[in-house]
Amino acid sequence: MSPVRRLLVRDLASVVSPARTRAPLRGVALREAEVIERAFVLCEEGRIAALGPMDALGAIAGEVEEVDGRGLSAIPGLVDCHTHACFAGDRVHEFALRAAGASYEELHAAGGGILATVRATRAAGEEGLAAALERHRRWMLQAGTTTFEAKSGYGLDRDTELAQLRAVARAGGVPTWLGAHAVPPEHADADAYLDFLLAEVLPEAASLAEAADVFLERGAFDVAQARRYLEACREAGLALRLHGDQFTEAGAVPLAVELGARSVDHLEVTGASGVALLAASDVTAVLLPASALFLGRPMPPARALVDAGAAVALATDFNPGSAFCESLPLVMSLACTQLRLTPEEALAACTVNAAHVLGRADRKGRIARGYDADLVLLAAEDWRHVAYHLAGPVVETVIRGGEVAWSRSA
Ligand code: NIG
Ligand code: FE
Repeated sequence: MSPVRRLLVRDLASVVSPARTRAPLRGVALREAEVIERAFVLCEEGRIAALGPMDALGAIAGEVEEVDGRGLSAIPGLVDCHTHACFAGDRVHEFALRAAGASYEELHAAGGGILATVRATRAAGEEGLAAALERHRRWMLQAGTTTFEAKSGYGLDRDTELAQLRAVARAGGVPTWLGAHAVPPEHADADAYLDFLLAEVLPEAASLAEAADVFLERGAFDVAQARRYLEACREAGLALRLHGDQFTEAGAVPLAVELGARSVDHLEVTGASGVALLAASDVTAVLLPASALFLGRPMPPARALVDAGAAVALATDFNPGSAFCESLPLVMSLACTQLRLTPEEALAACTVNAAHVLGRADRKGRIARGYDADLVLLAAEDWRHVAYHLAGPVVETVIRGGEVAWSRSA
């Protein structure tokens, strides 16, 4: 019999976790974090077996690996519930064009943008794609992300869409099928492309992905097309998500509520009625402030959403065009400085609430007994440095499944 796999993180200055046990957290509950000072966390077989103040730490029978937590604080492993991390190539030339005045929508309309990454992703082959995703996964891990979602949507043909979903699953991510991201040039229009997607790709995509997503936007898919795609995906057993209200308020929020979607993401231009609809629903609002920053777009109405009682999550939107950013700590900084969220709200939004969006809130996003032993050790006694230190080296060690997955000092 192999020995029990144990890891003890001891003498931490503090351990913080979103309060309560339900998910998603809303309203004032988003502000309640439980802090234990001078604390330990004991991991066993990949789960959190115990935590508490150091003076409550009893003798541990059997072998145990120790991590010295002196001077450090621990937060739950971060959960990035919205990325497009499975892409090949980059779009640094478009970044330079935008810096010189071109707009993201203009580049897209001229055949660049998403379609430029589609060309690179189709050309990469399955191995090239896996290598690119591995590189991106390492970046995310080093920024404290222990659970990530990644979408397809850069294949837009059968083989490459399915290859993307397989690559994400193989890399340990949560795959989302974003077949309806853009219309590729080989199809006459959005309706013809949807005919193809639903007949030729959905049957297999449904067995590889956990959710489906659609880009509901001027120049992409409209409400009727998004409804048709999402209803077929729901029928096939997938959870539903939408990209909505990024540039225009084109009906994504009412559709998300009507269909009982898991989330509607972006919301940079959502107005008062959208906020009220979301607050009265079970749909989580996923906010992507790094994308708004990167494109020079307005920030989403985060404060209004939280104050109205909506469930809010934060994510990076990591992708080569609108958010070349894998860092949830940076997103937390933006949440506190641009979205007027408190550090506690920002923490809940990219841990427990993000885990809820991925259907994993029963085991991810909290430091609590029985949860997966995913922790980020921060190089500060006060955990709020994770948001306070703008783009600073705050992540010291990342523990995933009860093992040290990355350490700055290693
Ligand atoms: O969430 N808006 C649509 N899709 C992505 C961007 C993808 C890209 O530019 O490659 C987003 O911003
Ligand atoms: Fe996105």
